[in-house]
Amino acid sequence: MVLAVGIASAFADPAIIAHRGASVDAPENTPAAFREAWNQKADGIELDIWLTKDGRIVVIHDGSTKRTTDKNLVVRDHPLEELRKLDAGVWKGEKWKSEPIPTLEETLGELPVGKLIYIEIKCGPEVLPELARVISKAGKPAEQLRIIGFNFETLVKSKALMPEVKTLWLVSGSKDKITGKTTYPDLAAISEKASAAGMAGLDLNMGFPLDAAAVAAIKAKGLTLAVWTVNDPATAKRFAATGVDAINTDHPARIRSALEP
Ligand code: G3P
Ligand code: CA
Repeated sequence: MVLAVGIASAFADPAIIAHRGASVDAPENTPAAFREAWNQKADGIELDIWLTKDGRIVVIHDGSTKRTTDKNLVVRDHPLEELRKLDAGVWKGEKWKSEPIPTLEETLGELPVGKLIYIEIKCGPEVLPELARVISKAGKPAEQLRIIGFNFETLVKSKALMPEVKTLWLVSGSKDKITGKTTYPDLAAISEKASAAGMAGLDLNMGFPLDAAAVAAIKAKGLTLAVWTVNDPATAKRFAATGVDAINTDHPARIRSALEP
């Protein structure tokens, strides 16, 4: 893929973003998964954040540690010191035993030069002051950072607090419990809403009906566009052809090799 030049797209086009790190090959949202993402030549990583009881930011997908560690704790009810004692790797296999729940601070500290990080806010706006502090302390160029989230109001507050960091609104479809059919919000409406709020872009579930015209219409609003979570090479090629800016995947090596000329 060509390297685009310019402020809005100084990264590979489309950028390959390792979803929760290289989460097929290593335990999600751990240092091992992020190292594996760089090994697999990802352009960036995506991760999820929660606030601990003592006001620190940890990287974990769920609000509890049940699924991805050896103990069941509610993240917001426990201090960092306690959460750090958990094993966030062994559920994936003995090879990853003792892998810790990382802090956002240390993950940002290890972000390689020129690589992207998509930080998904899973908790509420209470995390924002600490997020701003951690980002400022890390001293990384804003161009490497993205803040993403499903909660529009939290993102608006995030943008007000950290105007230099690009904010992308995560949007998905909703599944009808009876028919099982998933319907997606109108692309023009969500583009308009994001653009009017000054967001940098949209980060869309791959089920949205995206073709080249739809992507061009989103970009015409001045928005960047990422899609998630694409693990199938043919689907990644289809999205790349539409002109999306970033593809989130659990398997960066597979998608990298699919998109290589
Ligand atoms: O990148 C967006 C995607 O991560 C949202 O879904 O559940 O994997 O956090 P989830
Ligand atoms: Ca996520």
